[in-house]
Amino acid sequence: MRDDILPFSRPSITEDEISEVVAAMRSGWLTTGPRTEKFEAAIADYLGAGAQGAGDINVVAVNSGTAALHLAVLAAGLGPGDEVLTTPLTWPATSNMIMLAGAKPVFVDIDRDTLNMNADLAEAAVTERTRGMLPVHFAGLTCDMGKLGALAVEHDLAVIEDAAHALGSACPQGKAGLLGVAGCFSFHPTKPITTGEGGALVTRDPAIADTARLLGFHGVTRGARARATGTAEYEVAALGFKYNMLDIQAAIGLHQIVRAEDLRRKRERLARMYHEALADLDGDLLYLPPPTPAGCVHAWHLYVIKLNLDKLDFDRPAFRAALRERNIATGLHYLSLHVQPFYERELGCKPGDFPEALWASDRVVSLPLFADMTDDDLTYVCDAVREVVQAHAV
Ligand SMILES: Cc1ncc(COP(=O)(O)O)c(C=O)c1O
Repeated sequence: MRDDILPFSRPSITEDEISEVVAAMRSGWLTTGPRTEKFEAAIADYLGAGAQGAGDINVVAVNSGTAALHLAVLAAGLGPGDEVLTTPLTWPATSNMIMLAGAKPVFVDIDRDTLNMNADLAEAAVTERTRGMLPVHFAGLTCDMGKLGALAVEHDLAVIEDAAHALGSACPQGKAGLLGVAGCFSFHPTKPITTGEGGALVTRDPAIADTARLLGFHGVTRGARARATGTAEYEVAALGFKYNMLDIQAAIGLHQIVRAEDLRRKRERLARMYHEALADLDGDLLYLPPPTPAGCVHAWHLYVIKLNLDKLDFDRPAFRAALRERNIATGLHYLSLHVQPFYERELGCKPGDFPEALWASDRVVSLPLFADMTDDDLTYVCDAVREVVQAHAV
């Protein structure tokens, strides 16, 4: 029995991040400035590595993944009267940003193995009002972007990726974040890299980036007079928000982005070890994440198992409590949105509307997964999971 709690996630912070934050604070420039600009360029370089380079990748660093989603939906021109296809198995930020832009989220049921939006069901949800699609790459496994992309082309839909879990993910169509008109990353402390809180919108479309920058900072821009005269006078051109990233945040991110692939590989190795250690329970007392399809790179933001409640005499809260008694914290990604009171009320969702999301919603548990987790930590979790489910097998 370990005597400290194993968290389900913990950011990997080195002295480099710490001294850069201190340097930012000593520099006298705390808010958006040179470090944010450098961080945006570093994200573009990271995403542009290989293929065709970072040249046409625009990055707008903001203070949360939620802010990136809000700006992306608005900059893509989605608003009142528009419907946007999305998944019910996500954090509320995804659908809330669609609604805050005035548009309507239309849930599409998920695939219970991948927990991603089911591309085969998306077409049936398209109406004459459908204008956009906001898929989430669950846990860092990319959605079926071949099928979703084709559907988007056929119906002229703006694709915005919720890539909150997916920095470092890729599929045959390309890298997560660059597969639609805009991609949105989160740098919350549990995410593939962190800036404390933070996020980024990435796009190859400079007009989307310009609108996101404008709306992300009060709608304030350098005015025509300032441009003409070279002065610093400003102009309020739109109704905007205050979503800019601090240089203190970017100081952390500058070192995290350099380590992103190393952190991803460490999580990938741990995920493989989980799979090997629990393989004999897969399809019996629980279900493990499916294999990563050929040609895809998985960010392994989360390691989500599903309990096979048909073969167990207890429920998820009892399973999580049993792990907690053994000093193991777990996560819950996610309770399906369509059974949450707000969406039931606002969108008229009924539990039976999305049976696969409902099934997953009752069974998912995120086991601890973070780059600095040790092999002993992982073995401890696997032994505990085995002991607990076997004690409750029916
Ligand atoms: C799928 C998904 N979308 C969006 C967000 C929002 O990101 P943030 O917490 O950085 O606002 C999260 C974060 O929890 C998420 O998991």
